[in-house]
Amino acid sequence: MFYRPEDGHGLPHNPFNAIVSPRPIGWISTRGPDGDNLAPYSFFNAIAYVPPQVMFATTGEKDSAAALRATGVFCVNIVEAASGKVMNETSAAFPRGTDEFTQLAIEKAECDTIDCPRVANAPAALECRVTQIAPLLGDGNSLIIGEVTGVHMRDDCMVDGRFDVTRFTPLSRLGYRDFAEISAVFEMNRPGEQ
Ligand SMILES: Cc1cc2nc3c(=O)[nH]c(=O)nc-3n(C[C@H](O)[C@H](O)[C@H](O)COP(=O)(O)O)c2cc1C
Repeated sequence: MFYRPEDGHGLPHNPFNAIVSPRPIGWISTRGPDGDNLAPYSFFNAIAYVPPQVMFATTGEKDSAAALRATGVFCVNIVEAASGKVMNETSAAFPRGTDEFTQLAIEKAECDTIDCPRVANAPAALECRVTQIAPLLGDGNSLIIGEVTGVHMRDDCMVDGRFDVTRFTPLSRLGYRDFAEISAVFEMNRPGEQ
């Protein structure tokens, strides 16, 4: 099958986000003029090492974007399978001003380098300072880029000096309503590496 997006796909559901998958989920926390906020974004990734940078994209202007436009900071919380259900619940369209941490009994901790909440029990959390907000094609779509200014890694995920993703079960998003748990990890050397 082939389709041009401008002509429509003719399928019951848009296949686009099933094609670019699995995707990591950035569980984005912010503290804006309307209070604390937490919501998942799977148009999310790490994009540079030095200095470390991440990006996520909002499809339409949402509370997270409004908050970080006001404050210039956000935090990315990494999601494990055990938090999948509550992570999904934070995507509900709560009225602006609803604190998803309180609403859904998610334990909150304070970030160290920015004035922002984070998910206390996340396997890892990245404190970020906004460096760019780029408008994307389409109504209210934006790309948000941040420099990581603080990195939290949960103690039980640290093994022999490595952040060990096998100590928890990473959760990723597939297309439609599907998610995947990472259950098999293997190593591959780069060409020329011993
Ligand atoms: C797993 C998952 C991934 C999501 N990814 C995105 C995304 O990348 N971009 C987006 O705009 N919305 C995404 N959403 C929807 C938002 O989480 C949802 O619109 C939420 O209400 C936004 O919250 P906010 O208005 O508090 O920022 C996702 C939802 C789920 C469950």
